[in-house]
Amino acid sequence: MKVIITKDKEALADKAFEVMKAVVDGKKDAVLGLATGSTPIGLYARMVADHRKNGTSYREIKTVNLDEYAGLRPTDPQSYRYFMRDNLLDHIDIDLTNTYIEDGTATDAEKECERYNALLRRLPRDIQLLGIGENGHIAFNEPGTPFDMETHVVTLTENTIAANSRFFEKESDVPRRAFTMGPKNIMDAKKVLILAVGTNKADAVRAMVEGEVTESLPASILQKHPDCILIADEGAASKLSKK
Ligand code: PGA
Repeated sequence: MKVIITKDKEALADKAFEVMKAVVDGKKDAVLGLATGSTPIGLYARMVADHRKNGTSYREIKTVNLDEYAGLRPTDPQSYRYFMRDNLLDHIDIDLTNTYIEDGTATDAEKECERYNALLRRLPRDIQLLGIGENGHIAFNEPGTPFDMETHVVTLTENTIAANSRFFEKESDVPRRAFTMGPKNIMDAKKVLILAVGTNKADAVRAMVEGEVTESLPASILQKHPDCILIADEGAASKLSKK
């Protein structure tokens, strides 16, 4: 895993943008695996600014997202589809029909997971963007998720519900279930870019980079990815022994 440490979250977003821009510039019909959460917002802002200023085009680009809450409509402001439109997709020249995410309203969950796995096979990702949870989760893959799992439905852990409640009015509003790509889908991407900001992520970052590869720390599987870049700010990198 290549590790890049930046001074703060602004410098991190600059670096992440460089990596993403190289993929977009290198292939006009690239498939981008995208993520939600607070960490990638600065990167998305830079992609929008660059599109406006330099005309970087996403007309032939496709996007696939990691995960979506079960039970929320795409128009619900708390849904990840809404987040993606609000932070990126509505502000660039991408064709929205080329932007994919699990259907949170699907009634047959198993069928929806099969549909998404088939879609991911049809659209090999040139890059997959990721954040990391305090407990080392990636997407909604919590500790204990088998590494060979593909898209599945998860029941969120209390830790994740509490962390995500900051986006909701009250904790009881946070959906309890979600669709998520599995570790295997994530590892299938050609390149992985994982971002981490803040001292609250420092233990997870250390375990991911320097600990053993174990299903109890889902992000540790990334040690086995042939092209994985971690960009961490000084806080998130503060517990790494090799800097
Ligand atoms: P965050 O979430 O970007 O909001 O910190 C990351 C994650 O939990 O995967």
